[in-house]
Amino acid sequence: MSSAAVAPVEAGGFDVARIRQDFPILSQTIRGKDLVFLDSGASAQKPRQVIEAMTGLLERRYANVHRGAYFLSESATEAYEAARRAVAGFLGAATEREIVFTGSSTNAINLVAHSYGRGVLKPGQAVLVSEMEHHANLVPWFMLRDSHGIELRIARVTDSGELDLADLEAKLADGKVGLVAVTHMSNVLGTVTPAARIAQMAHAHGARLLLDGSQAAVHRRVDVQALDCDFYVFTGHKLYGPTGIGVLWGRMELLEKMPPFLGGGDMISEVSLEGFRPAPVPAKFEAGTPPITEAVGLHAAIDYVQAIGMEAIEAHERHLVDHAMRRLSGIEGLRLIGQAQDRGGVFAFALDNAHAHDLATLLDRVGIAVRSGRHCAEPLHARFNVESTCRASFGLYTTEGEVDYLAEALDKAREFFR
Ligand code: ALA
Repeated sequence: MSSAAVAPVEAGGFDVARIRQDFPILSQTIRGKDLVFLDSGASAQKPRQVIEAMTGLLERRYANVHRGAYFLSESATEAYEAARRAVAGFLGAATEREIVFTGSSTNAINLVAHSYGRGVLKPGQAVLVSEMEHHANLVPWFMLRDSHGIELRIARVTDSGELDLADLEAKLADGKVGLVAVTHMSNVLGTVTPAARIAQMAHAHGARLLLDGSQAAVHRRVDVQALDCDFYVFTGHKLYGPTGIGVLWGRMELLEKMPPFLGGGDMISEVSLEGFRPAPVPAKFEAGTPPITEAVGLHAAIDYVQAIGMEAIEAHERHLVDHAMRRLSGIEGLRLIGQAQDRGGVFAFALDNAHAHDLATLLDRVGIAVRSGRHCAEPLHARFNVESTCRASFGLYTTEGEVDYLAEALDKAREFFR
């Protein structure tokens, strides 16, 4: 690698060079430069194992699921349900029936907002979110507020980018909050929220807790029992799996209480011209032909990260985060947004005199892919009084050399924009 050398084995013995060989896309050059892909927070690249699992299903096992008594349909159904079992194991769910496949994290949150929000919460109750939410965990709750008379409360973020727990607790105090819905890891600040502590606070005040794990589930082991949350959502495409599949985990007693969100085939026990009776959980929430190939890809992605080990991935990324903090905080004129103690590999920054899009374009010229803009978190950018930022986000294939390369490129960009 010419521009951002991969150390043969990174600190901690994590064989990142070996892992990178699994990702065909990473070996290409962009405008003659080695690709330095630092946008995994938007969507991660896919290992060969995921691509092959999906191709294998399509070439040899594909048919619709839950609908055929013939061999291929049974085989595809087995593959789809095996994916559900894999997700249950990945999250530590009590049973695979608590796993609902959706199209994305966004769909999963909308499912809860629509079904739990309208079917279980009562007008006059409140939902409590935070200022650091992605729009996907904000807009559905605005919609619920506007259509169903649910109050929306917003917990503040401190100057260092942590969730303000005192404010959160104060907003729970009157016992009106029925659901707290917060991110497990900010897609802008990298902040990992103290989920188990938040669960304790929510439960003490009679509220349930939904965690948006779209970013967190990629970087560390998630155990929904240890977190003691009530709903957990994540998406396949950030976890090295395909787009088009997301997951909602919910406690069985809650999923059973919730009315279906979408109606259609496969979510019913019976239908007549008078009406319908919904199927049991999870089928009740999976109307229509589900994302079959995507579920198989997600299963392969879970097998992939578990074979490496979530603890090993977390340790590698911690090392990268420490390294990035040291390198980026030394660059004059670079403002890092968020300095939380517990954080993952997501760094949003602004450079003096440079618009985020211009900076991202300049970085692209040397092969570095970062996201620029507001990262679907406009209120958070307003909170930090910054118009837009560039965001570098790491994956398990990110190397220390790439972080150094980014730091050097930013240093040169500073000269350019001076
Ligand atoms: N949610 C994705 C991001 O943060 C798209 O970039």
